Amino acid sequence: MSEPALKRQKRVLSGVQPSGSLTIGNYVGALKQWAREQYNFESFFCVVDLHAVTVPYNPAELREKTREVAALYLACGIDPAVSTVFVQSHVPAHSELAWLLNCITPLGWLYRMTQFKDKAARQQADSVGTGLLDYPVLMAADILLYQADAVPVGDDQRQHLELTRDIAQRFNHLFGETFTIPEAMIPPAGARIKGLDNPLVKMSKSLTESEYHAVYLLDPPDRIKKKIMRAVTDSGREICFSDDPEKAGVNNLLEIYEAFTDQPRDAIEAHFAQARGYGDLKKEVAEVVIAALQPIQQRYRELTSEKGFIDELLAQGAERASAVAEATLRRARENMGFLMPPG
Ligand code: TYM
Repeated sequence: MSEPALKRQKRVLSGVQPSGSLTIGNYVGALKQWAREQYNFESFFCVVDLHAVTVPYNPAELREKTREVAALYLACGIDPAVSTVFVQSHVPAHSELAWLLNCITPLGWLYRMTQFKDKAARQQADSVGTGLLDYPVLMAADILLYQADAVPVGDDQRQHLELTRDIAQRFNHLFGETFTIPEAMIPPAGARIKGLDNPLVKMSKSLTESEYHAVYLLDPPDRIKKKIMRAVTDSGREICFSDDPEKAGVNNLLEIYEAFTDQPRDAIEAHFAQARGYGDLKKEVAEVVIAALQPIQQRYRELTSEKGFIDELLAQGAERASAVAEATLRRARENMGFLMPPG
């Protein structure tokens, strides 16, 4: 009697753009979940460099940031013995599947994306690249190539995930079952950390107008403390979670505390009930952030001091990722009716 077919382990895929220095928003919204979930899923984590060129950028900086982001994945707890870590452009299947998916994605779906509208509004209308509009199709290709069941991301990627599902469903409907329909995996705490200088906007690695906007993962402790102590709050004293836009600054600090300590909200509010004012709250938030980043920074320094280590790891990752991606791409091409090359 033949053995029952082995059910494959569920997969996750996610990525970060090397478009700036990673922030604590990227950490609690994405990387912290990845490090936890890698033991429950077969995991693929890529540095999405092809996405980073959709807005104006500096080539030398792109190269440097691509290595830096990969090293930070490991420093934040991604274990390369368990997860596949690679650079998106090292696996050409991403670009090729993106083209195939382009041809079944209505333009109207792309014009509706809020991230496209926001990013396009920050540039001169006549210099917005086609790649910026097409960005979510490439993201769909990233996810669908690995037949990912779940995609751990922050709240700002929810709409892109919905679009990925729509594209996958449309493809499967037109050409037969080809892609797994993925689910977004959004963390219960820290899914949308706001700017310290403006708690009404998302903390972003690419907004660099104010040096007090974001805490970066590689910031030294004194800078972290200074940034958090200067965070915008309100003129009140009450320290509690709140949806009131007036209290957005305090709420953001509490959400950072929640995401870094994994404590329930009522325990956090009880803890701060005795505080003398927002200064106490800021001091404690700075302490938990500094304590959590200290081992990450230490590990980052170790990893980057070994010359060639990251490049070697990325070469192995690209090989592992390609094997999976190529198999899916082949199936997509066959199902779309392309004549397969001989051999
Ligand atoms: P990116 O590079 O903007 O952000 C990387 C991850 O960090 C999360 N994130 C946040 N979470 C909480 N609070 C914040 N302030 C915050 N800022 C960012 C993002 O939600 C994301 O999970 N389009 C993606 C990159 C991408 C991708 C993919 C992701 C390309 N292909 C395939 C998943 C799967 C992006 O721009 O992320």
